[in-house]
Amino acid sequence: MRARFITAASYLLLILGAFALLARPLQAQTVSEFVAEHPDVSTFFTLANATLLREAETLSTSRTLVTVFAPDNTAFRRLPARVTRKLHQNHTLLNDVLLYHVTLGNLTKPELIVRRRFRAHTLYDNQTILIRASSRVITVNGLRVVKPGFPFDLGTVYTIDGVLVPPSLTREILG
Ligand SMILES: *[C@@H]1O[C@H](CO)[C@@H](O)[C@H](O)[C@H]1NC(C)=O
Ligand SMILES: *[C@@H]1O[C@H](CO)[C@@H](O)[C@H](O)[C@H]1NC(C)=O
Ligand SMILES: *[C@@H]1O[C@H](CO)[C@@H](O)[C@H](O)[C@H]1NC(C)=O
Ligand SMILES: *[C@@H]1O[C@H](CO)[C@@H](O)[C@H](O)[C@H]1NC(C)=O
Repeated sequence: MRARFITAASYLLLILGAFALLARPLQAQTVSEFVAEHPDVSTFFTLANATLLREAETLSTSRTLVTVFAPDNTAFRRLPARVTRKLHQNHTLLNDVLLYHVTLGNLTKPELIVRRRFRAHTLYDNQTILIRASSRVITVNGLRVVKPGFPFDLGTVYTIDGVLVPPSLTREILG
């Protein structure tokens, strides 16, 4: 189980790799360039880049499409110091939390709106997030999407205004 989801961790690397390696001329963005263009999500992508780098070595060239719900930097700053400390001290925990922000499939905004209310499986232990969408507002586990999805080589990225906590890790993280 564990191994499967460590492998799943590599999907997030695919996202990062997409910018650096698979980028087509129109979207030729390295991670650094991407972060430069979207400085409001630099914390998330920097953490992902640093934490999941080892898995990059096991990356296949699988072109699995994903959707990323990336907390903005304010969301990370708002975390209690105790929580931030835990995430920095425990890489497994950080990996798990980061993976909980990534779901399989290219969920574009029109598709979210059509589906309205559904659970999407994340790369963290196949646990789900609840997505609710109307033309005015989209939420993920109650957190708001603050920036519309923008496309990249392997799917879509949305910015959200909080950090998602997997229910199974609530005690570990907040306790
Ligand atoms: C990602 O990690 C690589 C290697 O450590 C580093 O060169 C690069 O600057 C990092 N990019 C970001 C956005 O943190
Ligand atoms: C790190 O977090 C994981 C959950 O992701 C937990 O199972 C483990 O016990 C934690 N390790 C330590 C040393 O706290
Ligand atoms: C995740 O759960 C769904 C529904 O329970 C199942 O269909 C799917 O195969 C599971 N995926 C993985 C990778 O375990
Ligand atoms: C995701 O879906 C949108 C809308 O259908 C499409 O334009 C885009 O190319 C898709 N992304 C990928 C990586 O296939």
